[in-house]
Formats: sequence, structure tokens, C-alpha cells
Amino acid sequence: CAFRYTKLGYAGNTEPQFIIPSCIAIRESAKVVDQAQRRVLRGVDDLDFFIGDEAIDKPTYATKPSKVEGWDLTPVMNVFLQTEPPLNTPENREYLAEIMFESFNVPGLYIAVQAVLALAASWTSRQVGERTLTGIVIDSGDGVTHVIPVAEGYVIGSCIKHIPIAGRDITYFIQQLLREREVGIPPEQSLETAKAIKEKYCYICPDIVKEFAKYDVDPRKWIKQYTGINAINQKKFVIDVGYERFLGPEIFFHPEFANPDFMESISDVVDEVIQNCPIDVRRPLYKNVVLSGGSTMFRDFGRRLQRDLKRVVDARLRLSEELSGGRIKPKPVEVQVVTHHMQRYAVWFGGSMLASTPEFFQVCHTKKDYEEYGPSICRHNPVFGVMS
Ligand SMILES: Nc1ncnc2c1ncn2[C@@H]1O[C@H](COP(=O)(O)OP(=O)(O)OP(=O)(O)O)[C@@H](O)[C@H]1O
Ligand SMILES: [Mg+2]
Repeated sequence: CAFRYTKLGYAGNTEPQFIIPSCIAIRESAKVVDQAQRRVLRGVDDLDFFIGDEAIDKPTYATKPSKVEGWDLTPVMNVFLQTEPPLNTPENREYLAEIMFESFNVPGLYIAVQAVLALAASWTSRQVGERTLTGIVIDSGDGVTHVIPVAEGYVIGSCIKHIPIAGRDITYFIQQLLREREVGIPPEQSLETAKAIKEKYCYICPDIVKEFAKYDVDPRKWIKQYTGINAINQKKFVIDVGYERFLGPEIFFHPEFANPDFMESISDVVDEVIQNCPIDVRRPLYKNVVLSGGSTMFRDFGRRLQRDLKRVVDARLRLSEELSGGRIKPKPVEVQVVTHHMQRYAVWFGGSMLASTPEFFQVCHTKKDYEEYGPSICRHNPVFGVMS
């Protein structure tokens, strides 16, 4: 299973209460593998599976996983907001509706697009008049980075791009850099150590050549010490954290350091996505590049992306001016990358915020409608939330 995380919680909060690995293990005796997902969500009393940490730690250990699953902690089911990834199918929405209304008996359901919620989350850092559902979302989690253009609450599906560089790749890259130098790390802990170092010490620099020089001139100022505990003998181990502090996340801008099959920097991908979009939304998209997800948390990520993207855009404008022999003077394009406090759980927070507005209950599909018209009502979920 992929180690991505499911986040659950109540509307109105700033962070999810439950963060569980999206992972299911099926007991070997159970012959239900092909229908695993269906069975998990339907037959909660008939437990032949494990969810989340239970599934990772003890795949064959028989214990009642209902607590891990968390459903029993919410005995009275509330109206439910579920998020969906870009390009989810209408069939999946119907299927989700069936599960939520029939197995969990929710009184209402709304299926929200993750990128739209991420845009809403960025409103916390903006003036009321600047709240818009037009923007380009850079959502970088553990497994993949999505670049998603949104115009007035609708994802421009044909222009989405995925970048095969995200948190896990940075962790692996740091692990590799440390392996060559730091021999004190217990081999079985090298991955968690790399991840901890990444989250604690890494940042994005403006220029790697200058950054190397800074470390060489004054290593004491820049080199950090990380202390870990050996899980077997409980002894401390101390390692130096040097260039990997800025080289790790640099792979967003120089992916070829870590992945020989992918060469394009994140700023070029963002530019390309916007250039593929209809001409009338390009300017508003450049003006609202919004960050979301754990792997956008590196210090100065937004600042570097803004600078690099601006360079690409300005170079194009200069070129068109030159090609016209100076006759065309293009209007400058404003490039703005929005960094904000809710980036870590942006999608979740955007959902929490929108689900606490009175408007939410107007757009929600109700159990009554479900019973009357069937699951197809959930194929469409109206855009809402742009307050004026
Ligand atoms: N402060 C931090 N600095 C850098 N990276 C971080 C920080 N906090 C968390 N991360 C990284 O963010 C990633 C998890 O992010 P997120 O929760 O957005 O992913 P996900 O949604 O579960 O995964 P995916 O979107 O790939 O399905 C992990 O790689 C984690 O190491
Ligand atoms: Mg994610």
C-alpha cells in the first residue's frame, strides 16, 4: 500500500483529529481481496482486515481495529464532507454516496475537489476582496506533486500536470547523501532519520553555488547536529547535517539530481500548465499560485518558486518584444506565489472552513434526496464559498 495519510476531523477546527495511513491489510484467511475496499466499508462488524497503523505494524495480528478506524468514536454521524482528487470519476462519486448514505447513514454528503479547498485555505492570508476560486494549486504530499489550474471553482482538468518529485523522493535523496558520509546511523533507521532531518532542518536556498560557499566559509554556523536514538541498544547517535539541508528540497528545481528520467524544474512545469490554459485565465493564474501539502513546508519554497517563475515569464515577454523589433511592448505579468499558515493541512483546513458556513448545508446532498433520486445526485457538487 502507498503510505499516504487520511485526515479526519470536525468542521471548524484548524487541524484534523485523526491522521491515519491510508492502508488496509487483509488477513490471509479472508478470501475477499478483490472486493477489499467494498467489504471494509460495508461489513464493519465482520473484521478480517486492519486499517492504518495496525495494518502496517501487525498485518497478521488479530485485534479489533474499530478504534483505529475511528468510526465508533463518532456514534452520531454528521453531515459529511469528503474530498476527491483531480479527475475523480462520476462512478466513484456514486459509489461513495452509496457507502456513506447506506452503510454509515449520514444525513448529508458533499464531495469537494481537493484543489478548490486548497484555494479556499489560502484566503486566511488575503484581504476579503482578494478571495477567489481562480488560481493554480501546487499540492505536494509524500508521493506526488500535482499542479492544478482552477478557474472560478472548476478544475481545468485537461491542463493538470503531475511531477514525480515529492516528500518521499526528498527523503530518499537525503538518505543517500547521508549514507555516503554518516556511518553512525543504524541502517534500519536510516529512512526515518532522513525524514526527521528533512522536516527539521531543510530549506530552499536562492543559489546552490553560493550556498555551498557559505557552508565552506563558516561551517559552524550552518552545519547542524541531529541526535537520534538507536532503537536496539537505546544509545544516542549524533550526526552532522550539512549540504543536505538545502540540497534535499533543491530537487524540486533540479529534479535530475534525484531522478534521471525527469528534468523539468517545478517553475517550468507551473509555467507550462498556465500557458496551456485558456488565454483569459492566464493572468489571474500567475497572480494566484497557491501552496498546499506537507512538502511545500520548506522555508523559502514560495519565494524561490515566485522568483524562478517570474524569470521564465519575463524572459518570454522580452523575447516577444525583441521579435517584434520593439513594436510590441507587452504588459508586465504579475506573478504571486501565496504562502500561508495553513499550508500543512491546506485541503483539510479548506474543507473545515467551508463546511462551517451556512452555505454548506444548502449545497449538501441530503439523505432524503438520495432516497428519492438515487446515488447519481452526487455526481455533481455545486461550487460554493466565494464570499463577497
Ligand atoms: N515541516 C515539514 N517540512 C518538509 N516536509 C514536511 C514537513 N512536514 C511534513 N512534511 C512531509 O510532507 C509529506 C506528507 O505531506 P501530506 O500530508 O500533504 O501528504 P499526503 O497527502 O498524505 O500524500 P499524497 O498527497 O502524496 O497522497 C511527507 O513526505 C512529510 O515528510
Ligand atoms: Mg495529499
